Amino acid sequence: MKRLASIEFATAMALFLQGCAGWQSALDPKGPAASELAWLIWFFTGLCAVVWVLVMAALAVPLMMRSRQHAEPLALDASSDNRKLRVVMTAVGLTAVILVGLTLLSFFANRTLAAIGSDAALTIRVTGHQWWWEVRYEDTTPSRILTTANEIHIPAGEPVRLLLTSTDVIHSFWVPSLSGKLDLIPGRMNVLDIKADKPGVYRGQCAEFCGSQHANMGTFIIAEPRAKFDAWWNDQLQPAAAPTSDQAKAGGELFLKRPCVMCHKIGGTPAGGTVAPDLTHIASRQTLAAGTLTMSRGNLAAWIADPQGVKPGAHMPVVDLSGDELNAIVAYLEALK
Ligand code: CUA
Repeated sequence: MKRLASIEFATAMALFLQGCAGWQSALDPKGPAASELAWLIWFFTGLCAVVWVLVMAALAVPLMMRSRQHAEPLALDASSDNRKLRVVMTAVGLTAVILVGLTLLSFFANRTLAAIGSDAALTIRVTGHQWWWEVRYEDTTPSRILTTANEIHIPAGEPVRLLLTSTDVIHSFWVPSLSGKLDLIPGRMNVLDIKADKPGVYRGQCAEFCGSQHANMGTFIIAEPRAKFDAWWNDQLQPAAAPTSDQAKAGGELFLKRPCVMCHKIGGTPAGGTVAPDLTHIASRQTLAAGTLTMSRGNLAAWIADPQGVKPGAHMPVVDLSGDELNAIVAYLEALK
């Protein structure tokens, strides 16, 4: 029985600690900003734990010594009172020193965070929408400006400046493995600098309640070596691949005839909607509907056939399509690598 309890305890601790690692954890930092914050979290937690233990001890000692009753409760004892006063004053002084110290630590940590992206060569504008992320790569050459959605590719080992804004309500951008969180506010541009030390995929999540599908507003930072990142950017600038099979060709035509075209853009075609994610290279992304589904033919079909079933409240309407029409549109989109 005792052994069983210890196994249960070990399992519970393993599950608990597993929350500290992985691709979305502030306690498993993968960049300088997150490292700075993780250090701050541990230091604050450790120091506060020590203070808590001392307070509990200070409470326990008098409680245990209570049995020694005074014969005359109102009698004055000057030396005892002075000693108590000194203890209280020391505790007040220590509290003030600790508070000022922690405030200074936070201040210097903020300065470190602000310095991370001061020489960032890459600027990405991230716009929050209910419930997806618009991602725009800025460039001084207009033809190199790139718009995509939900997945943010960055070069590993380089600082990147994110400009955060929103078109509807307040969202919050948070990729815990790389940085702290910052709000996306309509009519305002917030600046968040991030850097991933190594190539990898880091998950982010909207961290401000923004409506019914707030929980399904995920994002991914995909950090890759510079050469791979440059190649990705060049690929994404290309217009959409022309459909090759008859089914995909029919799907492309249907896309332009149906309401899809009102909201989505597909580069190189007349589809130019900007209120929903750019689909020019949708099949090159790893997920659909802001991290809600993994990218696959079946999930594409499910999402188009029943968006309200997958993500209730999403602004993607149900489009009336026959089975053949749905298959054709999926065949077309699936080839947009
Ligand atoms: Cu966007 Cu919560």
